Amino acid sequence: MKPDILMIEPLLPEAEARLEADYQVHRLFAAQDQAALLAEVGPRVRGAVTGGRLGASTRILEALPALEIVAVNGIGTDAVDLERARARGIRVTTTPDVLTEDVADMALALMLAVARRIVANDRFVREGRWPSGGPPLATKLSGKRLGILGLGRIGRAIARRAEGFGMDIAYTDLRAAEDVAYDHHPALEDLARRSDFLVIAASAGPATRGIVNAAVLDALGPRGVLVNVARGSLVDEPALVAALQEGRLGGAGLDVFAQEPEVPRALWAMENVVLEPHQASATVETRRAMADLVLGNLEAHFAGRAPLTPVV
Ligand code: 8YV
Repeated sequence: MKPDILMIEPLLPEAEARLEADYQVHRLFAAQDQAALLAEVGPRVRGAVTGGRLGASTRILEALPALEIVAVNGIGTDAVDLERARARGIRVTTTPDVLTEDVADMALALMLAVARRIVANDRFVREGRWPSGGPPLATKLSGKRLGILGLGRIGRAIARRAEGFGMDIAYTDLRAAEDVAYDHHPALEDLARRSDFLVIAASAGPATRGIVNAAVLDALGPRGVLVNVARGSLVDEPALVAALQEGRLGGAGLDVFAQEPEVPRALWAMENVVLEPHQASATVETRRAMADLVLGNLEAHFAGRAPLTPVV
């Protein structure tokens, strides 16, 4: 008997095919009537595959009384009810390390895109405006001051790249890291005040909800650029929109939003804002490596071994 697996978010098609070889797969994300599917298969589902965005809510966990493992295709567990999972002895696994370099690449891409007007200038050429004169000058990135919120694996990978651009790097984290020479600013507002670019690379959760607030954005200032490759929930999004509208913030490069896939309409027309639909880990190479870990975690668990990369 193949164990029943509920897919809350999709994987690469090739990984889904591998999953189907070993499990009875139920696709919640494709169901016309999700409640009906949960009522029908919920009682026999032993594993769930999900992503960082949808996770596994309290409602989902309650609909799956026989659940043994939640395999997250991502590193964020903010959308997983970890407390409930722990209480019920449900294993939760993520895909650490394999996505670090891609997410850091995206942070640099967004910094460059905003500073050097890459997207706005691309549009300028395509709209046939070049023959009538050049676009406005851009902003230099090399040598500027970078502030990183969250000096974990991704924050460090961003810092390594920024070193190549000769940037002056500082960070805010719960503790000062012993093994780096970057300045530690315990207060995020102080970090923002000394930074030209502020990049969010911290995990989401109750402790970090809305910490990039109006005061932090004002400290970053009218020439400052905010980049977010973590989670929308870390930012007070209405305050961000207001700061951009009022010219109190210089620009933003955003891969994540408070209510994905909704992106505040006011941002759509802003030339100093670059928008990405949550793509930081979305390369073929990395999504393959992530799927391998998801499948490896399930395989280990259902073979009676410890999962490869558990968080719970
Ligand atoms: C994925 C993510 O896009 O790792 C995470 O936490 O958000 C991303 O890597 C996501 O898991 C897919 O939903």
